Amino acid sequence: MTPNRKTIAFAAPSLGEEEFAAADAVLRSGWIASGPNVTALEGELSTYFGGRPTRLLTSETAALEVALQLLGIGPGDEVLIGAQTFFSSANMVEKVGAKAVFVDVDLKSRNIDLADAARRVTAKTKAIIPTHYAGLACDMDALYAFAKQHNLRVIEDAALAIGSSWKGKAIGSFGDVALFSFHPNKNITTIEGGALVCNEIADAKRTEVLRFHGISRRPDQTRDVDFPGGKFNMTDVSAAIGRAQLKKLDAFCHYRRQLAARYLTRLTAILDDSLLPHAGHVGDEAGHSWNLFAIRLPLDQLKLCRAEIMDAMKAHGIATSVSYESPHLTSLFRKQGWKEGDLPNTELIADTTLTLPLHAGITEADVDYVCDSLASVLAEASAR
Ligand SMILES: Cc1ncc(COP(=O)(O)O)c(C=O)c1O
Repeated sequence: MTPNRKTIAFAAPSLGEEEFAAADAVLRSGWIASGPNVTALEGELSTYFGGRPTRLLTSETAALEVALQLLGIGPGDEVLIGAQTFFSSANMVEKVGAKAVFVDVDLKSRNIDLADAARRVTAKTKAIIPTHYAGLACDMDALYAFAKQHNLRVIEDAALAIGSSWKGKAIGSFGDVALFSFHPNKNITTIEGGALVCNEIADAKRTEVLRFHGISRRPDQTRDVDFPGGKFNMTDVSAAIGRAQLKKLDAFCHYRRQLAARYLTRLTAILDDSLLPHAGHVGDEAGHSWNLFAIRLPLDQLKLCRAEIMDAMKAHGIATSVSYESPHLTSLFRKQGWKEGDLPNTELIADTTLTLPLHAGITEADVDYVCDSLASVLAEASAR
């Protein structure tokens, strides 16, 4: 390890004077819960998404719960979920009383395998939740043709895909319902936060009700409740930070693509192509916003397990992560009968994946250092 080298985080928010000033101004304004900045950020995001109605919530997990309620999904319904994803989508499907049906993914893109999805459709299937893994858009033409064929609603899990596009069109600017996360690890942050993008103003209005206690106003200004809604309204402090972040989104994504290209160039000498992440759709490479850079480790050729490799990288001052574990093999879903072998690609990825540092706070020299460190860790792991 290089002495006194700073630790390289695998993900980190990029906040500057603009965000500090924006938060400070709201804190001093006297109005710190949902207010003018929430309304303004919703408008700015809506413009970014081509004019589609957009509503902010406290997290994408909250947006998932609200989206499922909005679509009327509940007991007796099944929802297909691309399994290379975080736990939240399946959790929320279960929370509203529906059944999560996991679908395997493509080994290289890690995005949902629609041939496997077709095998899992039943008369009860109401919706599909694909994740744009790492910021790589799913094949949107195939996805929406599949949804049309099977009469399914689509809830895009675009947590990793703000700044991504498909054939030049921003993810979130077309399609059915799209959900975004503004957690600090995402391409832009509101500390915690999420967005729901839809097509109909009526759905946006309903989202406002569902995110705030199920409350609507009667003509006489008193309040009514027709649904036991949650409390998922974003604060104005968060929204003000988000407005400053949104202005930087293009620059962040441009830089992420630059770092990812550097990784791909350097890592071809270290790893087989099948273990490197998908480089972006041919001819549409700029559509990848690179929220994550996740390789797979050739563990069958190494004498160390992944946890030991992560420790060895840590000894070089480099934090790594696992994105993601197999959601169907959690205790929750094992109890429902899911087991090893059900989703071979998802499981292979989960067992071998390693997320390397990628965010606006690192340099190309940091990427080189990560690659050199990985090369030496892997060399040692194969020699032992
Ligand atoms: C793919 C994916 N979906 C959904 C979420 C949930 O987002 P949030 O933390 O905003 O609830 C995450 C969070 O990391 C995620 O990675």
